[in-house]
Amino acid sequence: MKVTEVKVRPYHSNDEQQVIELWHQCNLVVPWNDPKRDIELKLKFQPHMFLVGAKDDLIVASIMVGYEGHRGWINYLAVLPNYQRQGIGWLMMNAAEAELKKLGCPKVNLQVRSSNKSVIAFYEKIGFTDSNVISMGKCL
Ligand SMILES: CC(C)(COP(=O)(O)OP(=O)(O)OC[C@H]1O[C@@H](n2cnc3c(N)ncnc32)[C@H](O)[C@@H]1OP(=O)(O)O)[C@@H](O)C(=O)NCCC(=O)NCCS
Repeated sequence: MKVTEVKVRPYHSNDEQQVIELWHQCNLVVPWNDPKRDIELKLKFQPHMFLVGAKDDLIVASIMVGYEGHRGWINYLAVLPNYQRQGIGWLMMNAAEAELKKLGCPKVNLQVRSSNKSVIAFYEKIGFTDSNVISMGKCL
């Protein structure tokens, strides 16, 4: 498959089932995140920056992008296992960065779970570096 066969576009409500299945296949669904609720919440803030990669009617990739006026953030980057290592992850990140640049965002950050260190090679390949910070969180 050629990466040019994948069209990057904003998420539509009828993509929900395929996107949640994609996240399950990519091990991105964890007990403390309800994917359906995460989608509903994202659709209230910068919904045009929740992108999917579609090959015809099949959703093969997703990326959730946001900008809060200081940094851009990436979440839920996923490519269906059978479609990985064909340039689609890079394509999705390029589309995300383009959206952030349009808003004047100077820097993009992302978090990698410590159980998912193998993905670091991908981010390094596309220009990310370790920011040497400790990421902390608190549920509200
Ligand atoms: C991370 C992910 C989105 C990458 O998508 P992808 O479509 O496979 O990435 P690309 O094909 O665009 O990769 C671009 C380059 O990154 C590097 N790369 C990608 N995956 C890699 C891996 N697992 N190990 C080492 N290098 C990797 C390669 O150099 C690759 O180029 P090459 O195939 O020509 O060598 C995909 O592996 C994925 O969905 N993983 C599961 C979900 C996940 O962990 N998401 C990130 C959460 S932080």
